[in-house]
Amino acid sequence: MTELPQTAPATVGRGAPVLEATGVTMQFGGLTALNDVSFGLTEGEIIGLIGPNGAGKTTLFNCLTGLYSPTAGTVALRGRALPQDPARVTEQGVARTFQNIRLFPSMTAEENVLVGRHVRMKQSPLSSLLHGPRFRRSEAEAAERTAELLAFVGLPRFADELARNLPYGDQRRLEIARALATDPAVLLLDEPTAGMNAQETEATRQLIFAIRDLGVSVVVIEHDTKFIFTLCDRVLVLVQGEVLVEGTPDEVRGDPRVVEAYLGAPPDEIEAQIHRGEQDA
Ligand SMILES: Nc1ncnc2c1ncn2[C@@H]1O[C@H](COP(=O)(O)OP(=O)(O)OP(=O)(O)O)[C@@H](O)[C@H]1O
Ligand SMILES: [Mg+2]
Repeated sequence: MTELPQTAPATVGRGAPVLEATGVTMQFGGLTALNDVSFGLTEGEIIGLIGPNGAGKTTLFNCLTGLYSPTAGTVALRGRALPQDPARVTEQGVARTFQNIRLFPSMTAEENVLVGRHVRMKQSPLSSLLHGPRFRRSEAEAAERTAELLAFVGLPRFADELARNLPYGDQRRLEIARALATDPAVLLLDEPTAGMNAQETEATRQLIFAIRDLGVSVVVIEHDTKFIFTLCDRVLVLVQGEVLVEGTPDEVRGDPRVVEAYLGAPPDEIEAQIHRGEQDA
């Protein structure tokens, strides 16, 4: 009889990575913003990315989405290298929101989501030009999907409202709806609760669980560690461009290096960091 292995392989219970970063390094002149960062995001997983201001969190998202070309390293989606072109990365299934909200302020909520939807609308330029039956069908489908998404993120009544008139928290939700309109396999959220009150933050936590339940894998950057520890399956702590610790929320919370490098900062310093994060956003 074959003996059972004493320890389970690390991959047990976790599928192959959907998104995989390997040795990602990003230099800006003499500044190394990211140094040899590697991680894998598996199907149905929510990963939290925390770290002090300037740790390189947003830079990592920019490298994952083709906004920046890493100085070294690779990013792959389901084993295929992603192009260094944001529009094509979106097409291939990686969507994101921005730390500084990037909506079209003078367009309605519905129009903002439709912009995301157009990534998936297949039609010839001639068909759109002539507004033929295929074009109209595809427009009707997009409108229906947009209404569904606005309801899903909790904004069903705001379809015709200009984006700039929405309260701040609702603008963040609208950005999530626009990202979801691209039918992503992976969603990257950069500080989705910045500027939100406790109730809105909790609603966002539930929304991210619901997004995960749709089969989307998620990476979330947040300064609110309580939010991250109660949301994520795994947490990466980035400090000065390097992954200091990676583990479950319990492992990360209890790790002395994390306490020292980040959580152990005096409470008013952590507060100040959170505040700065809000101002940046
Ligand atoms: N385009 C750029 N050119 C030069 N330096 C940059 C650029 N983008 C980011 N940096 C630098 O890289 C470092 C990491 O910045 P990044 O915005 O990724 O940090 P962060 O972890 O997202 O911080 P925060 O919590 O404040 O959002 C910083 O020192 C920043 O100034
Ligand atoms: Mg940032």
